[in-house]
Amino acid sequence: MPVRRGGGLNGDWHAGLEEKIRSMNDIDQRIESLDTSLFDGVLAASTKGDRRSLLLLQRCVRRSGEYVYLEIGSYLGGSIQQILLDRRCRLIYSIDKRPPVQADQMRGEGSYTNNSTQQMIDGLRNTFPEAQLEIIKTFDCDASELDPAQFIPKPDFCFIDGEHTNRAVVSDFSFCLGVSAPDSVIALHDANIIFGGLSLIKRRLRDRRWQGYLLPDNVYVFLLERAIDRFGSEVRQFSLPQASYFLRAKWTMFRVRLALGKRFVLARRIWRLTKKSIGR
Ligand SMILES: C[S@@+](CC[C@H](N)C(=O)[O-])C[C@H]1O[C@@H](n2cnc3c(N)ncnc32)[C@H](O)[C@@H]1O
Repeated sequence: MPVRRGGGLNGDWHAGLEEKIRSMNDIDQRIESLDTSLFDGVLAASTKGDRRSLLLLQRCVRRSGEYVYLEIGSYLGGSIQQILLDRRCRLIYSIDKRPPVQADQMRGEGSYTNNSTQQMIDGLRNTFPEAQLEIIKTFDCDASELDPAQFIPKPDFCFIDGEHTNRAVVSDFSFCLGVSAPDSVIALHDANIIFGGLSLIKRRLRDRRWQGYLLPDNVYVFLLERAIDRFGSEVRQFSLPQASYFLRAKWTMFRVRLALGKRFVLARRIWRLTKKSIGR
């Protein structure tokens, strides 16, 4: 029997369905075109360049079909919103310890106001009433405290944006490496702050096949195993030269820490390195 279009219950249902399909196609299109307005719903702690880079990685991963996303450091959900709207994402793991004050490699420490999982979920629900919030699984702790066995299905795409210290990013990266799929994509935010951690991670990856790219403005991504063959050429087109970027980042860090009165820490480190190099 043909379904009646127009008025009545069936008509409303059809109009609703058509609207839903239109909006899903619209989201697909916006991800394809790297439309950064996808981040406009809830406050996000990223630049326009970072957002384009995150969308680029999302576009790569979703082209292979359904995927699972894991994020460390979600705050208000600013870097979850564009994933939540994506019909190809079937599960989101959000890990955030939400400490009142957090350590920071550049400034020493920092804090985030109104930082709770409830606040994040409420904000996402109010902004995207149609979204399926059930796909978000939250954990209020440091990733190192979690049992990797809980992360089935394994994430294909991880984004690390938690505590910005070298120690923490190495620990968060090890966690992601342990729980994610073998051919995964692991991105880190604020490469200009956690560059020391990136060097340590590269050393740890000695036994794995990987490729690392620096993306605008401050995103660093590791493509693992077959992710290199699948996405490497596309990601490379957007990537930045690393040597000059990291030199600039080191110089900025030096100046900021000096201005903040961290010169004694620095002097101590230089002293330790000198002692080590002369073998005393
Ligand atoms: C820069 S904000 C994240 C911003 C968010 N990704 C966005 O784009 O809007 C950093 C978050 O890391 C969280 N955090 C701090 N220490 C953490 C830790 N040890 N493990 C996980 N998350 C942590 C903070 O609670 C905060 O919400």
